[in-house]
Amino acid sequence: MRVLGIESSCDECSAAVVVDGREVRSHVVATQVDVHRPYYGVVPELASRTHTERIVPVVERAVSGAEMTFGDVDAVAVTNRPGLVGSLLVGLSYAKALSYGLGVPFVAVNHVEAHLYAPQLEGAVPYPHLGVIISGGHTLIGVVEDVFRMEVVGTTIDDACGEAFDKVAKHYDFGFPGGKAIDDLARNGEADAFSFPDPSLHKGDHRYDVSYSGLKTAVVNQLDRFLRDGYEPTRENIAASFERVAIDIILRRIDRAVADTGMRRVVVGGGVAANTYLRRELVRKKYEAFIPSLRLCTDNGAMIAGLGYHYVRHSRVSQLDENAFSRVPEFRRRYP
Ligand code: KG4
Ligand code: ZN
Repeated sequence: MRVLGIESSCDECSAAVVVDGREVRSHVVATQVDVHRPYYGVVPELASRTHTERIVPVVERAVSGAEMTFGDVDAVAVTNRPGLVGSLLVGLSYAKALSYGLGVPFVAVNHVEAHLYAPQLEGAVPYPHLGVIISGGHTLIGVVEDVFRMEVVGTTIDDACGEAFDKVAKHYDFGFPGGKAIDDLARNGEADAFSFPDPSLHKGDHRYDVSYSGLKTAVVNQLDRFLRDGYEPTRENIAASFERVAIDIILRRIDRAVADTGMRRVVVGGGVAANTYLRRELVRKKYEAFIPSLRLCTDNGAMIAGLGYHYVRHSRVSQLDENAFSRVPEFRRRYP
């Protein structure tokens, strides 16, 4: 089954063709980084307008890149939650119209579930496993029973991990997008230059939860103190020290969840999974970590098409009155 996947939940306009939920035939991503760079963050109105300009050529390139015509598409999958509603609606409306015109099913897919599915496009990962999403919008640890079932055991109680990268990068003018800018700077920095506090959510209900909102303030306050003392930290050292604490926070929670659940396989997805330090640390762990290649960590249509295949197979076909949602109630935090 050839599924066309469309992703427009934030600032990447992407489409891909995936066969039988495994084989990526084509993969097109039109990034909007240049559009949002002057504002140091994604501007929702600009994002949705840019999607309307790009979606048609992006989908056409995905179909021709798979050496197909539209008539060869068996189903259309699209992200409809969570994300920026205006941006989601562009992809959703396009997918509805296309599937109706082609007379093929369309399925509206959960973006967060799709991030967890991404490694399956590069080799089957057996279920159950521990699933970890670290992105700009979500930070989440769950026990993934199968493609559709995940028990969330830990989430962020405030900001997402990627958000902390973006805020620190914005504050110090490191560049946009922040996560990649910090990753690049950190390569030439000393992670031991400064130590920042790990918010102490250790016990009881918060056993697997994380908090990132205080971290940016802690970083800024501590470095301001150094500046007052006449010591000027380098950009590289700030980036490396921050990166280490931000990533170690989630790594410690993963370690704890692995120890408690006995899971030996851990899937890590979402934009922050592209981080060099995180990837280096994960391969050293006793558990087996499955991390997608960089192009499948950040938002992409291939993971939507891959998961969409299973939606079609299990008759989770959407109707034309399907809507877009900024949040997903099923991913609200639930204590273990
Ligand atoms: O999954 P994603 O593309 O979009 C969402 O679903 O949110 O994740 C975007 C997030 C941003 O916060 C970005 O700064 C972060 O992923 N990110 C990184 C890296 N590349 C992207 N964070 C750390 N290191 C990276 N190399
Ligand atoms: Zn994402």
